[in-house]
Amino acid sequence: MRRPTIDPGIFKKRRERLAAQTQGAAVIVPAHPELIRNHDVHFPYRQDSHLYYLTGFEEPESVLVLRPGMTPEYVLFVRKKDVHRETWDGFRYGPEGAEREFGVDKAYPFDEIDKVLPTLLEGVEKVYYRLYWNTEFDGHLQRALESVRIKQGRSGTGLLPIIDSSEILGEMRLKKEPIELEWLRRACEISAEGHVAAMKFTHPGVNERQVQAVVEYTFRMHGSPRDGYGSIVASGASATTLHYVFNDQPCKEGDLLLIDAGAEYNHFTGDITRTFPVSGRFTDVQTRFYEKVLQVQKAILKMIRPGIAFKSMQDTTIEMLTDALLELGILKGSANHIIEQQLFKKYYPHGVSHWLGMDVHDCGLYKIKGESRRLEPGMCFTVEPGLYVPLDDQDAPKEFRGLGVRIEDDVVVTDLGCEVMTSKAPKEIHDMASIIGKG
Ligand code: GLY
Ligand code: MN
Ligand code: MN
Repeated sequence: MRRPTIDPGIFKKRRERLAAQTQGAAVIVPAHPELIRNHDVHFPYRQDSHLYYLTGFEEPESVLVLRPGMTPEYVLFVRKKDVHRETWDGFRYGPEGAEREFGVDKAYPFDEIDKVLPTLLEGVEKVYYRLYWNTEFDGHLQRALESVRIKQGRSGTGLLPIIDSSEILGEMRLKKEPIELEWLRRACEISAEGHVAAMKFTHPGVNERQVQAVVEYTFRMHGSPRDGYGSIVASGASATTLHYVFNDQPCKEGDLLLIDAGAEYNHFTGDITRTFPVSGRFTDVQTRFYEKVLQVQKAILKMIRPGIAFKSMQDTTIEMLTDALLELGILKGSANHIIEQQLFKKYYPHGVSHWLGMDVHDCGLYKIKGESRRLEPGMCFTVEPGLYVPLDDQDAPKEFRGLGVRIEDDVVVTDLGCEVMTSKAPKEIHDMASIIGKG
């Protein structure tokens, strides 16, 4: 027997907030499908963030149908109890357990979806649903809508406009509530522990995957059930690949090691990048290169406060990194020309920030009516400038070729500025030098 670990009242409040904005509609949110890896083995399962956000329910083959103002209002389709399957795969709540433990008004077995869903949509004015996100479930909804339309014949009703639920749910998830901030802070702290452990462990000769194991072991040991995304452990020139996935090379004396890894905690994730020398000592060239990125990162952290436009962080990053590239002699010419022609993109091809929360690239609009969104207290995001010089770049001075540096922290906007939630992961050269290889 399992019990929910999070107070169901938290999810209830969220549903109430959603219901207040969607009276007369039905909000339908299906679970992620399970993915088969081979034969009887599945890829590790992690619930769809929107569904978890509204229910706390973690099982696959479940669907939320929320019908604000109607009875029953909170409906969940879940897997049936099944002694045989539970012997193999473990406990499932079943409809009764869902009603008892999760405050569901009415739960049905998932295999009744085609029969029951049309009845739940009768009298509903519109449907909030994200089409083409879960194409398997799209089919169930399509059949239900057809059935409602036929039934309602020439009554003039039953057109049921479908509205993407992402905007409304994205806005709800964008500014974090106090309890969400607590969880995100914890995810960030655990993530920082993983980075510190990696620094302590790293020395010339270790393999990237051994460092990855230390990072993820530390996450688990501090209470994180899973990683927020695939860890990037990239030594030497591999650091110039933004989302390097191989993590299988030996870390060499003289090389830098870039680690981008984050732990989940209560379905919120940290997202930290640190770059440090395998041997613990930066060369002069590496120091000059690293300090430029660090300077930009600190400048962006300093400018964060309510009211500034999200885009202003990217604009300032581009200006400062362009100046850095000129000062290092990696680019030549005028800053204006480089920015106008986007020539910096060869060395800085990504954004300086993205929303952070239950998903590493979290939901929420970046623009409102075409204008960059202004920051408000409670918004959480990363600050992650980087510079990457391809190994075979004939235009850059030789000493910089193959260098990749990214420094990434996670912040929440406060009334006066921001709180850096990942500050326990060192990023100053002398702080990192004092622990690298000393584990
Ligand atoms: N870890 C992915 C990113 O930094 O956006
Ligand atoms: Mn990031
Ligand atoms: Mn990252």
